[in-house]
Amino acid sequence: MKVLVIGSGGREHALVWKLRQSPRVSKIYCAPGNGGIAEEAECVAADVKSLDSLTTVANQIQPDLTVVGPELPLMLGVVDEFTRRGWRTFGPTRAAAQLETSKGFAKEFLQRHRIPTAHYAICNSLDEVRSALHHFHPPVVVKADGLAAGKGVVIAKSKEEAATVAGEMLSGKMLGEAGTRVVLEEFLTGDELSFLVVSDGERIAPLVAAQDHKRVGDGDTGPNTGGMGAYTTPAIIDDQMRDWLVTHVARPVVAGMKAEGAEYKGVLYCGLMMTARGPMVLEFNCRFGDPETQPILMRMESDLVEAIEASIDGRTSDGDFKWSTDSAVCVVMASGGYPGSYEAGKKIIGLEEAAKMDGVKVFHAGTSRRDGSFYTSGGRVLGVTARAAELPQAVQGAYRAITTIGFEGAHYRKDIAARALKR
Ligand code: AMP
Ligand code: GLY
Repeated sequence: MKVLVIGSGGREHALVWKLRQSPRVSKIYCAPGNGGIAEEAECVAADVKSLDSLTTVANQIQPDLTVVGPELPLMLGVVDEFTRRGWRTFGPTRAAAQLETSKGFAKEFLQRHRIPTAHYAICNSLDEVRSALHHFHPPVVVKADGLAAGKGVVIAKSKEEAATVAGEMLSGKMLGEAGTRVVLEEFLTGDELSFLVVSDGERIAPLVAAQDHKRVGDGDTGPNTGGMGAYTTPAIIDDQMRDWLVTHVARPVVAGMKAEGAEYKGVLYCGLMMTARGPMVLEFNCRFGDPETQPILMRMESDLVEAIEASIDGRTSDGDFKWSTDSAVCVVMASGGYPGSYEAGKKIIGLEEAAKMDGVKVFHAGTSRRDGSFYTSGGRVLGVTARAAELPQAVQGAYRAITTIGFEGAHYRKDIAARALKR
């Protein structure tokens, strides 16, 4: 079959890498892809912010299956549109994707279905923010309602700061339309966990859990990013916790969406805080995580195409995925200045040596290819990923591979999975 992957990041490189291992796949396209993806798929120019552009691409390719990476095309209704045109597409409809595209919708949904989450208030004006703040103790988490590419969450140290930030969001100056409604939230502490499942609208198949590292600096310091690294290991949660998350989070979400008339098909990413009071939902994403997908897919032993088809056809089952008991770690190498402004076009060296290392796969995020060389073209540039029997060896493998790779201004976190290694 011909498969089309939409997107251009490290997650999409990992999806292409995994999907093309399926004996069912004869040809794989990526729209628009990146320098590294171009070595494994045919890249087709496309604008993921435009449904017209994506429809034009699919019309040329006539894919037998489309897998959508980022949230934006899902918000635009790419699944609704492609399905209407008879192209089999994996992911939630525009209505179901609201779990990610509106934080207010997600919070009210969680409350309606009694799924554990932080206390919150939804506010449409600064007056509402000021009166809601009486019910919060600092620090207060201020979130833009809409999509903000990881920049929509501010942890305010005082109520004054919370009101100022909320005011800037509400005015539209800070994040445009995405911030014209805000959610105030109680600040939670604990370890974060990314728990992803695939659903067919009714049943679910869980993936192995992973942990992302969102802050730019070691020891979780500095501003939030799209994710600086992630790992997955069998010990990350035990079977009891997995069952709890299935029973108390994933299944109630899927059942709730069905009951409300917006059947949820595709990947449901539950972003959790493992607090002293138990797991609480921080957010939902309606897609695979980036960079979690890179190490998760390195542990997947079953055919991803089969599981995706099961979701589309409404026959998902608990055992759709088979996993290696190995661990996998992805360390992101980013451009100097990221997550702030950065320069692109830096030559990347050492990729050939890294590729020869045992258990290592370098997924490209922001790269372009020119005359046989690779150059940086984005904030997150590479996801250097390694798999090994035990977590310490996987961590060592990823960092050893990094020492062979270089580009001007490159930076990366030195402590991916460090907390898990201590335990
Ligand atoms: P979100 O997009 O809602 O997942 O928020 C982005 C990041 O902000 C999360 O991954 C957490 O690191 C942090 N965050 C969000 N909500 C809270 C909260 N209620 N308490 C503490 N940290 C939070
Ligand atoms: N790694 C976080 C995300 O994909 O949103």
